[in-house]
Amino acid sequence: MDNQVDSDLTAQTKARYNRIAPYYDFIELLSERVFKDWRRKLIAHARGKILEIGVGTGKNFPYYPKDADITGIDIADKMLPFARKRADGLGLAIKLIEGDVQALSFPDNSFDTAIATFVFCSVPDPILGLRELRRVVKPDGQILLLEHVRIDRPVIGIFMDILNPVFVNLLGPNINRRTVENVERAGLMIRSIEHLCPMQMVKMIIAHPGK
Ligand SMILES: C[S@@+](CC[C@H](N)C(=O)[O-])C[C@H]1O[C@@H](n2cnc3c(N)ncnc32)[C@H](O)[C@@H]1O
Repeated sequence: MDNQVDSDLTAQTKARYNRIAPYYDFIELLSERVFKDWRRKLIAHARGKILEIGVGTGKNFPYYPKDADITGIDIADKMLPFARKRADGLGLAIKLIEGDVQALSFPDNSFDTAIATFVFCSVPDPILGLRELRRVVKPDGQILLLEHVRIDRPVIGIFMDILNPVFVNLLGPNINRRTVENVERAGLMIRSIEHLCPMQMVKMIIAHPGK
């Protein structure tokens, strides 16, 4: 099992998201009209001590209950002031920390719920990150994911593979991640998968640590 973080790729990811942090909400303006209902639906499952990975500018924050116990991390430190502003505006006492999901600083079994929305498309080694979630979530806890994935159709899938480097270099995300397979390879047990848009490109995955 390779547990090494690729520091060059990770630094590149951080730099890309730091670069787009001031424009992130603007870039996502149109898609957010659709995403917001998916966010609400996913976060309705959150309970107990919550870890949100890759909080970005805090787009999920409006959907948490006011008294939720949330720790948010992001590798891109320049995202965090935007997230802090949004949390303060909503009156949420969320702890925000710069951190990498591939190497979390939390002890084993620290959280009841881990949440990530549109994050594992960008994490350099998603299996390493998902294994870390498995480690820090309690055995009876849950991992809630909202992710876009590679479309499982011959022509479109190959087209996504070809276009992928353009998306990674311009904006950060990989458009051809096989996240359901990655979740399984990380040792998580999938409880449910909901396909949220045409051609099953976005999925809501509910898993538990399986330990
Ligand atoms: C596409 S944005 C999604 C932001 C937010 N979750 C949302 O739904 O709007 C991906 C976020 O994941 C963060 N990220 C990427 N790799 C990460 C890592 N290894 N650890 C923690 N955060 C990471 C990026 O900095 C960025 O803020």
